[in-house]
Amino acid sequence: MTDSESYNLGNLDDLEDGEMRVFEDIDDYGIVVCKVKGELYGLEDNCSHADTPLSEGRLRGFQLTCPLHGTSFDVRSGTHSGPPAYEGVTCYKVEIEDGVAVALRPKSDKSNSSDNVDGFFQTR
Ligand code: FES
Repeated sequence: MTDSESYNLGNLDDLEDGEMRVFEDIDDYGIVVCKVKGELYGLEDNCSHADTPLSEGRLRGFQLTCPLHGTSFDVRSGTHSGPPAYEGVTCYKVEIEDGVAVALRPKSDKSNSSDNVDGFFQTR
């Protein structure tokens, strides 16, 4: 894949701070959109450790914690807090276009790599 792809998420004005919403039909695992401090963030809805939906975990601040073994993922970048996960998850940039939320899939599929994509990945 060479270009980012975008996905229409609809109007998310009803999503409150600290809430999440799952979009199951996007890419291989779906994405979970989190609202934190008024901003929307999207992560692949699948823990990089053992294929568990992150949307079943807990969102605290910018950290989304996997319900199975407790690794946290930063919703702003997809980076992981440490073991047992050994890498981050794909982070989608979420923008509002004419009142509609749009998720942009990055060119690179995983965070924590050296492949910075348009500046919205951070490496550890
Ligand atoms: S499945 Fe998420 S930390 Fe193990």
